[in-house]
Amino acid sequence: MQDFISKLPKAELHLHIEGSLEPELMFKLAQRNNISLKYKSVEEIRNAYQFHNLQSFLDIYYEGAGVLQKEQDFYDLTWEYLLRCKEDNVRHTEIFFDPQTHTDRNIPFDVSINGIHAALKDGEKKLGITSHIIMCFLRHLSQEEAFKTLEHAIRHKDKIIGVGLDSSEVGHPPVKFQQVFEKAMAEGFKTVAHAGEEGPAEYIWEALNLLKVERIDHGVRCLEDEKLVAYLKEHQIPLTVCPYSNVKLKVFENLKDHNLRNLLNKGLVAMINADDPAYFGGYLGENFVGTQKALDLSKEELKTLAKNSFKASFLSQDVKDKFYKEIDSL
Ligand code: HPA
Ligand code: ZN
Repeated sequence: MQDFISKLPKAELHLHIEGSLEPELMFKLAQRNNISLKYKSVEEIRNAYQFHNLQSFLDIYYEGAGVLQKEQDFYDLTWEYLLRCKEDNVRHTEIFFDPQTHTDRNIPFDVSINGIHAALKDGEKKLGITSHIIMCFLRHLSQEEAFKTLEHAIRHKDKIIGVGLDSSEVGHPPVKFQQVFEKAMAEGFKTVAHAGEEGPAEYIWEALNLLKVERIDHGVRCLEDEKLVAYLKEHQIPLTVCPYSNVKLKVFENLKDHNLRNLLNKGLVAMINADDPAYFGGYLGENFVGTQKALDLSKEELKTLAKNSFKASFLSQDVKDKFYKEIDSL
């Protein structure tokens, strides 16, 4: 199965680039930028990665991002992720970045976007991996702050395909960002949002109806609302599911309890993603392998997951068709 999984071409649609910051690179960048970390070793950092919910992860994740200072740091972070993509046969990736995590530390918006974008361009040239950038608003901050961030994104429209919504979900419903999403759409950005990870099915409805999203990130709690499931199926709204993340953040107790197969059986466009691989214990290939084992997924189901990853992407129909063909031939 591992061999079959490696051969499957895959797209990744739910990956926070700051969540691919490995402890080794964190140490290297801390040294390069004269920043002192509270951890003494890579092992100590890894041992600190014990989470009991989303917030306990976010606290550590935002702290870790503090070592990212210069354009080169963002380049190196993104390049390391792309090398992992190559290993896992990820052919296309649509990555999130969180500019407010950096602008709030006085790192200019242009530093993060330019570093990430330069690495992605090199990834296409040297590794043959295509990509898009989605900029996320931090939902624990105000809509006013999101509007300021959107102004920066507008200056970089040529590099950013869409906007998303991430960070602490419960207590920060999609409606809080309705106006800024309206403006983003008027400016030509696509929209996605994290919803139904820890938050209720109602937040998924809001993301669909108010933010007009084309995809729901996570969305695993949709099964609590039958009408919502029918809607997601009818409109083929993709769910970017992240199995390892869901277990690490206690959305499901064990991988065996994950509802991914149920989502597929209900005719939903779900696929596998890594979310924050440096923190959750595995990149896309590992998420596939581990989830296949835990749920005993068949080759047909794995093919459906890989096809769904392209179907749900922002690639053109032509390119999607090429990948479907390649997957069908396996
Ligand atoms: N959920 C919300 N915010 C995030 C996540 C997530 O899974 N990963 C990084 N920021
Ligand atoms: Zn996420």
